Amino acid sequence: MSAQSPKPFIVLGVSGGIAAYKAIEVCRQLVDAGCHVAPILTENATKFVAPLTFTALASEPAQTKLYDGSAAIPHTRLGQSASVIVVAPATAHLIARMAAGLADDLLTATLLATRATVIVAPAMHTEMWEQPSVQDNLATLRSRGVTVVEPEVGRLAGGDEGAGRLADPGVIVAAVLDEVAAPRATDLAGTKVLVSSGGTREPIDPVRFLSNRSSGKQGHAIAAAAAERGAEVVLVTTMPQTAPHGVEVEAVDTAAQMNEAMARHARVADVVVMAAAVADFRPSQAASSKVKRELGTPEIVLEPTEDILCGLVKARTKGQIIVGFAAETDDVLANAAAKLDRKGCDLLVVNDVSAPAVGFDHDTNAVHILERGGGVVEVPLTSKRAVAESVLDMVVRHLGEDEGKKSS
Ligand code: CTP
Repeated sequence: MSAQSPKPFIVLGVSGGIAAYKAIEVCRQLVDAGCHVAPILTENATKFVAPLTFTALASEPAQTKLYDGSAAIPHTRLGQSASVIVVAPATAHLIARMAAGLADDLLTATLLATRATVIVAPAMHTEMWEQPSVQDNLATLRSRGVTVVEPEVGRLAGGDEGAGRLADPGVIVAAVLDEVAAPRATDLAGTKVLVSSGGTREPIDPVRFLSNRSSGKQGHAIAAAAAERGAEVVLVTTMPQTAPHGVEVEAVDTAAQMNEAMARHARVADVVVMAAAVADFRPSQAASSKVKRELGTPEIVLEPTEDILCGLVKARTKGQIIVGFAAETDDVLANAAAKLDRKGCDLLVVNDVSAPAVGFDHDTNAVHILERGGGVVEVPLTSKRAVAESVLDMVVRHLGEDEGKKSS
């Protein structure tokens, strides 16, 4: 950020969950990125973290009360000054209060007294996260333009595993900085975008399958970003549990199921993004009952799966933009260029999965986006959401070029 430009004013709302300690890191990273950070803690947040910690790190003292005597109406100053209000962590209760439009403490009053972009990063136990009431409240917030930074699947406070862990502080900060840098575009309004995500599972028997390490996060990020940019999005995924809201989801398991679903939805899509990690081989015959150990080591005969991307390219409709993905470990750019040629898509997003913090199961990624015709755009290590935005920027450019050709 340049020395002349005023610092973006970020209100950091912290509500009362165990993940509140991670908001300290969000605060520090936002300040380091050149933001003016004004923290507001709910009363429950102060049971987990001290306001003094935020006061020490932020750009102004942390505030906790609507009426503390020092300023008559602190919520209007904070709400009106903010470029972005980010609530991390957002508890189920805070989300419910936002959805209901309550203003019973400084944070919720500030959230009403603003025209700023609002970002919430929920964190809660899986059981709470999956409650229809919580999801309905989030859907309400999304429909009002609030950005939701999806929680991760991982270890939770009680030692159990599941969806609901606060997103990585770096991902939350990237969402704030994206918003500050480029206010939300709606450049995909009126466009139908089809995305695949996750690794396919090819059954060996009713309990075992062959699969890969894909988490589906990059495909999900593309689906979420496309929806926020105004597209009608269908996501065909093996990871429906963590699918972003606001997109139509079709759950599949195997390459054959994904092939059928993608071919069906692609007939009406303007953009197809094949981010899934499709198994290249499947057991040619899945056993109908569990293969028993005492019968000895089984021989599993494999057969190739259908190349879904090649099939989509063959059936491509007029003007449709098709994006492929490639995970490589050696000669990354040369292999990717050959793959782009072989597959015949318009764009190929390649990552070097042997690099640290890149690809499978990370929240970050670093990619090159190759264009048919030889162009290459590098996207250095960043959040998967930011990679998604770069991919969509290229898609929008290609859609525009196609429009240009049609009208010339
Ligand atoms: N893909 C597909 N169907 C398959 C295998 C891959 O549609 N059976 C798609 C992937 O979704 C991705 C692209 O093809 O968009 C490249 O996938 P990748 O696994 O890198 O390519 P392969 O052709 O399988 O080449 P290899 O594994 O030998 O590198």
